[in-house]
Amino acid sequence: MKKILITGGAGFIGSCFVRQTLQKHPDYQVINLDALTYAGNLETLADIEKNPNYRFVKGDIGDKNLVDKLFAAGLDYVVNFAAESHVDRSISGPEIFVQTNILGTQNLLEAARKYWLPLLNVAETTVPRYLQVSTDEVYGSLGLAGYFTEETPLQPNSPYSASKAGADLLTRAYFHTFGLPLLTTRCSNNYGPYQFPEKLIPLMINNALTDQPLPVYGDGRNVRDWLHVSDHCEALDIVLHQGVPGEVYNIGGHNEKENIYLVKLILRELKKPETLIKYVQDRPGHDRRYAIDAGKMAKCFGWQPRRVFEQGIKETIQWYLENQKWVASVKSGDYQKYYERQYGK
Ligand code: NAD
Ligand code: DAU
Repeated sequence: MKKILITGGAGFIGSCFVRQTLQKHPDYQVINLDALTYAGNLETLADIEKNPNYRFVKGDIGDKNLVDKLFAAGLDYVVNFAAESHVDRSISGPEIFVQTNILGTQNLLEAARKYWLPLLNVAETTVPRYLQVSTDEVYGSLGLAGYFTEETPLQPNSPYSASKAGADLLTRAYFHTFGLPLLTTRCSNNYGPYQFPEKLIPLMINNALTDQPLPVYGDGRNVRDWLHVSDHCEALDIVLHQGVPGEVYNIGGHNEKENIYLVKLILRELKKPETLIKYVQDRPGHDRRYAIDAGKMAKCFGWQPRRVFEQGIKETIQWYLENQKWVASVKSGDYQKYYERQYGK
């Protein structure tokens, strides 16, 4: 059996990838390494936790001994999702972003250097592969026109995106310096089930459902390029197996929406009044527009998103309606404290 280490597999995108991998590769043993921060929740994986090909390890990607042990036991693939992922939190507390996103990634890369380098020139050994899951935010912000390509210079604007860019650059350096088989993807905004309700779409759905104000930053006209999480995970599986080491692949939905359009759509779907919309102080350094050119994914692998946004967003809203128990369980004490700091009581 092949062994795949998925880090951050108890989070929004990682859990989708764990599920897809177990389905798509029944001959893989999946190890999910997750620190279970406020954003990681094992209830998300309740449906697969008894799968004999699945093992959960609670731990930090920055823990040298633990990561060493996992690599020492032999790994064919590593996919690194583990991260602090919320921009607003990186503004109120950047340090943990540097620790997890940069130093944690470097710890994984160091283990790859230690355990994989000796394998690289051995005949009849399958070369392992590492995929760094990154974000379009490393490119900074776009004006009204244009797209991020893989050649767009990195100009991160938030502590979150700067820490992700740091991890991308380390991945690049470990490829160039040591020749390790490392790949990087940069994806646009994901939506779908199991997203933590601090991010725009689930936050707005849940506030609308409970008749709380919907806090829209600034003028609400910032643009994000939305992609269903399952389309992202399918693209990651392709890059992991077919991508060329050292390359970067942009993943996106060609699906740009202004925030205010999305907020109104959610209110319409839930039959709630627009009077719930509350324009609030803008996010400091708020990037205006993201839009991905995913032409390389199409050209190299024929990849295209399969989900139509209008259908996907309806299903997502429905999922949140039907899974209020999950929402309640992730809104732990910690999340509540953060929520009050960010938006006031
Ligand atoms: P998330 O916040 O939902 O999940 C992150 C997971 O990582 C959680 O389960 C958490 O417990 C775990 N984690 C955090 N610190 C850890 C540590 N030190 N060691 C081990 N586990 C740790 O994030 P997400 O939205 O699923 O994003 C996953 C990855 O994809 C991130 O790297 C993010 O930068 C990237 N990404 C996200 C999006 C998006 O729209 N959400 C888009 C592009 C890229
Ligand atoms: O582009 C990919 C990135 O998308 C990922 O790398 C990040 O991990 C992910 O969090 C996401 O970042 P954003 O900052 O784009 O997502 P967020 O859901 O925080 O915000 C989306 C937009 O909605 C953004 O323009 C800010 C706005 N917003 C957000 C919140 C939480 C509001 O107007 N009000 C809010 O309360």
